[in-house]
Amino acid sequence: MPEDPPFIPFCRPTLEDDEIEAVTKTLRSGWITTGPQVAAFEKAFAESVDAPFALALNSATAGLHVTLAALDVGPGDDVVTASMTWPSVVNMIELLGARPVFADVHEDTLQMDAAHVRSVMTPRTKAVVPVHFAGQPADLDALEAVVAGSGATIIEDAAHAVGTEYRGRPIGARAHPAVFSFHPIKNITTGEGGMVTCHDEALADRIRTLRFHGVSKDAWKRYGRAGSSRYEVIEPGWKCNMMDIQAALGLRQLGKVRRFNAARRERAQRYAERLADVDAIRPLGVVPYPHVHAWHLYIVRLDTERAGISRDDLISELARRGVAAGLHFTPVHEHAYFREKYDIAPGLLPATERVGEEILSLPLYPLLPLDDVDRVADTLRTVVAETSHGV
Ligand SMILES: Cc1ncc(COP(=O)(O)O)c(C=O)c1O
Repeated sequence: MPEDPPFIPFCRPTLEDDEIEAVTKTLRSGWITTGPQVAAFEKAFAESVDAPFALALNSATAGLHVTLAALDVGPGDDVVTASMTWPSVVNMIELLGARPVFADVHEDTLQMDAAHVRSVMTPRTKAVVPVHFAGQPADLDALEAVVAGSGATIIEDAAHAVGTEYRGRPIGARAHPAVFSFHPIKNITTGEGGMVTCHDEALADRIRTLRFHGVSKDAWKRYGRAGSSRYEVIEPGWKCNMMDIQAALGLRQLGKVRRFNAARRERAQRYAERLADVDAIRPLGVVPYPHVHAWHLYIVRLDTERAGISRDDLISELARRGVAAGLHFTPVHEHAYFREKYDIAPGLLPATERVGEEILSLPLYPLLPLDDVDRVADTLRTVVAETSHGV
């Protein structure tokens, strides 16, 4: 009997010898938590996105949490965000005692719809959190126009946007805070990790304090040559600082982001070519303004009627045939907690709900062999051909 071909995983981080050496060197250095590696990573990251301040944390979720808190988001406030996202920011809004308000997305690109944001904003709206979905940028000009004069702040969820550009400038270069993720599936990784960039020194200081117990000085400065041992809590904070072990990795990864993203782009183009004639499958649309796509995810929409199979069954069938596909995302407003707490009925967000049943993400990472891209596309084509003909 022929052997099954090897399983194609959904993602795999690219970790090269220099990264392993940098982490090992840090492990041997005698200082493994927040210290000089984090400071160097923050400086390099800030420069890479044209932002004056960058603050490293142990996840993007922590970055969103601390940024919302630093902007005094709390009880009585609304925060408008997408439902077509990972639950991260919505949970943080909820845990701070504020109310998440969901805005719909453009059906073709899954980017936040600024006109719908306008329609759900109220005087209680304290912040608007667009997601740069899948590596394409949200329309920041349109969102800024909607928010202008309202008193609300934009916080960019840039978890998918390391290397993304909007109208010729990197995400992070605009005046508002942006929050990046370095989870292993992301365009660069620190194991777990995140970075907040911002342009306001007072906001940067508050985030720096809130990420480390609300203490006014970082530990390594207290214990280093320049330090004094005195410290003071100026307000209660969390404990979500990044370690030097992670930053040593992040610093090397950051230097490779263009190469990594070029490899992602090549694989994305190959999927597009190989799937162009499969009528029941089409990729997400391209945003209609100048941009650089970071190709964080390669998402396709399934025409379930034409294909004769549901999206969930298609993902199971692909897994059975050795291909791991992902789902980004189940709309957050459809999760039990939010549905029940806010009494949400189907129909609240028509585009999000419709597309939420149709999308799946194909494996996309620099280490994915091009032959495997072809195998994923061919497997998808075969399953859809079989199901659409009732095989
Ligand atoms: C859109 C979005 N925002 C935030 C996050 C949270 O990132 P992290 O895992 O670094 O907390 C993710 C993670 O997948 C995400 O996809």
